[in-house]
Amino acid sequence: MTLQRSRPRLMILDDPGAVDRRVAELIADLIREKPECVLGLATGGTPVGAYRELVGMHQQQSLDFSRLTTFNLDEYVGLSGDHPQSYRYFMQHHLFDHVNVQPSRTHVPNGRARDIDREAREYEKKIDSAGGIDLQLLGIGSNGHIAFNEPGSPIESRTRTVELTAETIEDNARFFETADEVPGTAITMGIGTILESKRIVLMATGDAKADAVRTAVEDDPDPINPASLLQLHSNVTFVLDRAAAGGLSTSGSR
Ligand code: F6R
Repeated sequence: MTLQRSRPRLMILDDPGAVDRRVAELIADLIREKPECVLGLATGGTPVGAYRELVGMHQQQSLDFSRLTTFNLDEYVGLSGDHPQSYRYFMQHHLFDHVNVQPSRTHVPNGRARDIDREAREYEKKIDSAGGIDLQLLGIGSNGHIAFNEPGSPIESRTRTVELTAETIEDNARFFETADEVPGTAITMGIGTILESKRIVLMATGDAKADAVRTAVEDDPDPINPASLLQLHSNVTFVLDRAAAGGLSTSGSR
């Protein structure tokens, strides 16, 4: 892990569709270059379009997922993989069921593990045994969280259970019937785990993310803004639409 501060590369595109396509291309380029690559994947509203693009590339251009391995960032504690709001279900629905990835090579933390701390330790070991993550895809919370590393998460944190903030529960309530149904606890890769990925691609769209993006790129790295800690990695790309980039004082490449 490089702890020198460096500026994330910025790709600012016209609209969310262009962000989806660019992110899918970055992932597809890696799959073509290194068919046995290890992908770190995210859930939430933001990556849905990029996964749709990747499914299209598999169907129309035979993009081959058969040799790669995936690790998802996080899962709600208490939800089983067949719960429609679980992140395992999300990944099956949006990507895994539509491409030729080997099911045994897809990893999402088990939110129903009897010993959740052990599950977290074993998740780390599995990432290590796979050779580490080549490309980690991230979204960003409106409070600057990455994965479920909420403000205050230590830079050296590893996969573990965390309590979700009221803000995150409220943000994610849109996927549930009511906010009361959103689990308050999750298992998540840590900041330290994420920073060990060889490359990081953070995608963000819409003006609700503009403040979090500005803080992540322009403020000093500080655990109070978890995404700002990405400045301590030397290969980070933010792929943004104009709205999400709206708070930045500098512009990026297109
Ligand atoms: C999801 C995850 C979260 C989301 C973030 C943004 O696996 O780790 O950090 O990336 O909450 O969510 P959306 O994309 O729904 O705005």
